[in-house]
Amino acid sequence: MSSVALTNIATLVTNSPELGEGPLGLSQGKTLVLEDGKVAALSDRTPEGVDEVIDCAGKTVIPGFVDSHTHLVFAGDRSAEFAARSRGEKYSAGGIKTTVAATRAASNSQLTINAQTLLDEALSQGTTTVEIKTGYGLTLHDELRSLDIASAFTDETTLLAAHVIPEEYVNNPDGYVDLIIKEIIPASSAKWIDVFCDAGAFSPEQTRAILLAGKGAGMLPRIHANQLSRTTAVALAIELGAASADHLSASSDADIEALAASTTVATLLPGAEFSTQHEGKLGRRFLDAHAQVAIATDCNPGSSFTTSMPFCIAAAVSLLGFTVEEAVHAATSGGAAALRRSDIGNLAIGSRADIAILKSPSYIHLAYRPGAALVETTLKAGRKVKTWQK
Ligand code: NIG
Ligand code: FE
Repeated sequence: MSSVALTNIATLVTNSPELGEGPLGLSQGKTLVLEDGKVAALSDRTPEGVDEVIDCAGKTVIPGFVDSHTHLVFAGDRSAEFAARSRGEKYSAGGIKTTVAATRAASNSQLTINAQTLLDEALSQGTTTVEIKTGYGLTLHDELRSLDIASAFTDETTLLAAHVIPEEYVNNPDGYVDLIIKEIIPASSAKWIDVFCDAGAFSPEQTRAILLAGKGAGMLPRIHANQLSRTTAVALAIELGAASADHLSASSDADIEALAASTTVATLLPGAEFSTQHEGKLGRRFLDAHAQVAIATDCNPGSSFTTSMPFCIAAAVSLLGFTVEEAVHAATSGGAAALRRSDIGNLAIGSRADIAILKSPSYIHLAYRPGAALVETTLKAGRKVKTWQK
């Protein structure tokens, strides 16, 4: 049995109202005891005989971030596309094809190194769980190898073969939907199935057929919905019991009300809003309707090339209208809900000891000091980690 005590914690965020004040379950000056990779106790003093003591005076202890939406298996660079947007060009789904070509041409080891590099970056900023999507392969072979690479890093893998229609099927889009349903889905071992349901990507009818086939094969649905244009994707997500509908930038008030009345989490992506088409206080509309809200990085080379959950918290506050507390909750407990997990995203007794220790005395600094490297130490299952491992 291995045990760790985090002592004198200036501010502890547990996300467990039983363990502290408010929805963040806050306390000051306490000691958090970890045993065998789990949270064992919250105490006023350091227990005898623990294997390791970490003094957290002046520091903040929070649950590790749960990044529930990433596209980390890819090769290539689209900085020129970002620069063009800075000159006024609009983001469109078309850019995905550039990354598909680079990804198909890359070796497994190069794709693995690329993902590892991004995950190490995420870890150093406090992320302890990631979901990883495929979606830059778009052939049976390239989607399956993308999934294999993702599976080496996380159990939260998502098949996104329905990202865009690949070049070789532009004149036969339903042929590609058939390939997904008849060949890619049956061979997939992903936990989740996702579809980019939008202008320039897949129609609601195609999305429904793909998600139903995925569900039939044992995968659980989630949807890229209303990113570029409003479709019926939110209604579809709710009807199919999707764990999460993501992006949601073009959502109507009716979509938001429907999400709030459902068990589907609304996942907002502040990095994508920052880098593409932000239109102001998007988050407030969901929060005021009492929808369950997550924030995630959407890390990908086109619309949101960041691995930083602290950056997303800062952007959620300054661009999307979140309070700091709402943003911290959405980046931890919200992300866990979007993955239908209750063992992560909180530091309740018995939860996984996935933890970020911040150099600052309060979690507020995550938004107040944007761009600063605030994460001092990241623990996964109670162990300090410096490089990403599953
Ligand atoms: O979530 N919307 C679809 N997929 C990504 C963007 C992918 C890309 O531009 O390469 C997203 O924003
Ligand atoms: Fe995405």
